[in-house]
Amino acid sequence: MEEYRKGLAVPLEQALQVRDGMITQMEIGLRETGSKQGLLMLPSYIDILPTGAERGDFFAIDLGGTNLRVAYVKLGSEKGSTESSSIREWLIPEECYDTDNGRLLDWVAERTIEFAQEHGRLKRDSPPPIIGFCFSFAVDQTAMDNGKLLLWTKSFRGRGLIKRNVVAALKASFERKGVEVEIPVILNDTVSTLIARRYSEPDTALGIILGTGTNCAYLERIDRIPKLPSGYRGRSSEMIINSEWGDFKGACLPALPEDLWVDCSSVNPGHGLFEKMISGLYMGEVSRRLVLRLAEHGLLFGSEVPPGLTVHDSLASPLVAAIVGDGSPNLALTASSLASAFGITKSSLDQRRKVKEVCLLVTRRGARLCAAGIAAVLKHTGRGCGGADQPAKRTVIAVDGSVFKKFAKFRELLRAALEEFCGADAAQVELKLQEDGSVFGGAYIAAAASSWTSRASSGS
Ligand code: BGC
Repeated sequence: MEEYRKGLAVPLEQALQVRDGMITQMEIGLRETGSKQGLLMLPSYIDILPTGAERGDFFAIDLGGTNLRVAYVKLGSEKGSTESSSIREWLIPEECYDTDNGRLLDWVAERTIEFAQEHGRLKRDSPPPIIGFCFSFAVDQTAMDNGKLLLWTKSFRGRGLIKRNVVAALKASFERKGVEVEIPVILNDTVSTLIARRYSEPDTALGIILGTGTNCAYLERIDRIPKLPSGYRGRSSEMIINSEWGDFKGACLPALPEDLWVDCSSVNPGHGLFEKMISGLYMGEVSRRLVLRLAEHGLLFGSEVPPGLTVHDSLASPLVAAIVGDGSPNLALTASSLASAFGITKSSLDQRRKVKEVCLLVTRRGARLCAAGIAAVLKHTGRGCGGADQPAKRTVIAVDGSVFKKFAKFRELLRAALEEFCGADAAQVELKLQEDGSVFGGAYIAAAASSWTSRASSGS
């Protein structure tokens, strides 16, 4: 336990190394494409944002977590108002995670068509539906409406769609079903979350996902993105950058042997090391492996290693959240979690205490690393957390994802860490839950993008 307490602590000094290391990797990524030393820092080509004056009916597809979500939004006549909206979600079937079989986008098109039909939007002679496509992976874009997939993360595997234009592939899936659609924009879930909040709150400058995976997008000055094509003329002075911070790496990351195991057994070994310490897909598995090591050394369940404890992924992150939040005197929730995850039906209070502490250490490490990442983006953009000579600006951070939404202790530890790392500047930072941000932002930006296109073609 002592080794775990030390190894997972992320003291202030180490957190500041993470912050500064991340700034360095962000800067490299803004200069160079494909550098192994830098973050991907992917330009979104979104350099004007919805104004609230957009009108009409739009769809959004949100693909990249555990569920596929499709939304329909009717933007009202009042500025920024939504007349009606609805959203539907489906669990992504197991076969779609294996992208080599080519099923994924066909399945997405089928569900979207079903949904659009329910809304009476696929009638003969009606114009093709306009869809914002929120696709939560690293995509190398050259414009708002196209981009090549760089790599799969989370549970998606295989070579399907890699290096291919994802928008063209999705349109082709619709065409195979005899349906024509317009997709004026493809965007990351972090970008979409930022946009969804900024629609009503102009101080929003960062969008973060803390869910199955993690990532951050932020508004960057165009003159600080040297890798944009030469002569690129923005429609404003800023563009949203998808940092892909989950791929941050460095000796400053507090890794234990269990992190290496988790990495090796993931779909993308060697990538996403920061994500694997923070996000929902991995926190449970890291905790399980740490508990297993205690058991294997005879430090938890005597000489026995309960067989359920050796099963990969048997401790899901929602159970970690339940254990960490267990405030009952006899740790009853921890006991029932041990039973449902590992089939351990009898446990002593001391054993439950140890398991709870392991889960808490993993949660705290995740929250502190995430806070260090936020401090990096704030410092890099001159919004605060950079010392006395950098006055902090009020910054709203839009956050979506199950870890932020459902894991109260994670939120609490994240806030506390931000206050520790940024001092008084943290008072200027508001972390706000942007529910369904990833899907609605997609619809708003599709609306904005299609109104720019129609204005450009009418010459106004
Ligand atoms: C992906 C990001 C995404 C994040 C949150 C990561 O695995 O690489 O593009 O934003 O998950 O969904």
